[in-house]
Amino acid sequence: MEISVKLTRPETARTSCLVVGVFDRRHLSDAGQTLDAASGGYLSQILRRGDMDGELEKTLILHNLPHVPAQRVLLIGCGREREFGAAQFRKVVATATKTLNDTGSTDAVFYLSELPIRDRDGYWKVRQAVESIQHTLYQFDELKSKKDDARRPLRRVVLNIHQRRELAAAQRALSHGNAVAQGVALARDLGNLPGNVCTPAYLAEQARLLARGNRKLKVTVLERKDMEKLGMGSLLSVAKGSRQPPKLIALEYKGRAGADKPIALVGKGITFDSGGISIKPAAAMDEMKYDMCGAASVLGTMKAVAAMQAPINVVGIIPTCENLPDGAANKPGDIVTSMSGQTIEVLNTDAEGRLILCDALTYAERFEPKAVVDIATLTGACVIALGKHASGLLSNHDPLTRQLLAAGESTGDRAWELPLWEDYQEQLKSPFADMANIGGREAGTITAACFLARFTKKFKWAHLDIAGTAWTSGNSKGATGRPVPLLTQYLIDRCPKF
Ligand code: BES
Ligand code: MN
Ligand code: ZN
Repeated sequence: MEISVKLTRPETARTSCLVVGVFDRRHLSDAGQTLDAASGGYLSQILRRGDMDGELEKTLILHNLPHVPAQRVLLIGCGREREFGAAQFRKVVATATKTLNDTGSTDAVFYLSELPIRDRDGYWKVRQAVESIQHTLYQFDELKSKKDDARRPLRRVVLNIHQRRELAAAQRALSHGNAVAQGVALARDLGNLPGNVCTPAYLAEQARLLARGNRKLKVTVLERKDMEKLGMGSLLSVAKGSRQPPKLIALEYKGRAGADKPIALVGKGITFDSGGISIKPAAAMDEMKYDMCGAASVLGTMKAVAAMQAPINVVGIIPTCENLPDGAANKPGDIVTSMSGQTIEVLNTDAEGRLILCDALTYAERFEPKAVVDIATLTGACVIALGKHASGLLSNHDPLTRQLLAAGESTGDRAWELPLWEDYQEQLKSPFADMANIGGREAGTITAACFLARFTKKFKWAHLDIAGTAWTSGNSKGATGRPVPLLTQYLIDRCPKF
């Protein structure tokens, strides 16, 4: 989808459709009032008749307004003006986009950036609008032999800018928004691909494709024998039950010259999690193809920062393998030795994410990272605690926590902090090894993070549990691309003047 930003006027713009906000009750936005005047009170008459009251996300398409050259006007309900905030703005943009795409307008001019939202500037509105439009039009039909395309899809959108002095910021927002959207789309594609297509080798190939032709990107893929040499006994133990060879992908983005240390992103890449010998129940097990969404979010974020050419250094690290039952697979009670030297008793083979992440986190040390953020669909307990709205956030460094929470807040890709207190560590005690890989029924998300914390003492670190946020279940099943917006924003915020 091609989006541009322009200064236009609704009463003269030539387009298939003008998109104009109406507040509850029957209150036209500025662009609406301009159009109303130009059309001799046509819009206010419609409102008076009760066809559109401005209730949030209600839509009404009008054709051939008198004295107005645009073919159509889409009135979109914005709800109460006093309650109009970030969430409402995103909903309005998404609903308008979907309506246009379903009803035959091939191009449109949006007059929504003019709607006032407290504490949000023009840059924010354009960024969010771009991300929301691209998100709404995303389709995953790669594996369908017949595509169900809209017959007259929306192809071009202009986002109207209120004032000329806002244009430069709007153009930057457009570029950033499209970059984030590309990263989100990549993460969604990779997540939605089934386990028989999206294997560890496939993820490695995707990393290579990203790096191809971009001198700022460099990829290294460790094979099983490389990992054996490094002593990654924990990661390799998970891969033992699978015929797909494991990989450890390191993708370095150098957006800044000199010796500036990188921020490391570590993403869980279990391309299918059956649970292994501690096998999962059959119901909804297909959704465990999404167990590589942490990895996908790392690749998506790398794609976004590369697309916007952010002046920052980042390294993405992805441990990836399958978790399957087999004669050679991990068994409950097995004890493995991690790259750090710490030994782990595998009491449940389904707690495999932490087993691959711990070695990847130790590996991250060699990049001397300024900070490390790992992203993982780690615990079902996180879905119980926070549902699908917030990712779980646990960290050993308060400023890092605040930066990530703020990035989530501004992008609408929110996280919520859970405590990483020492008190929980005792749940991981093992009589036979340095630790067990599970901590019992209580506080499952926290004990999983406590496990990882034992491998992250050498750097500032945060853990994002995205088990509830990475995909949606039910009949609109699909990857969300989260937390690419949060991570990319966090990185943008670390860039000098960008
Ligand atoms: N990938 C799962 C976590 C998961 C489960 C995410 C359901 C989303 C939905 C992870 O590998 C896992 O199986 N975790 C176990 C840990 C337990 C054995 C301590 C879990 O959450 O049940
Ligand atoms: Mn598991
Ligand atoms: Zn898993």
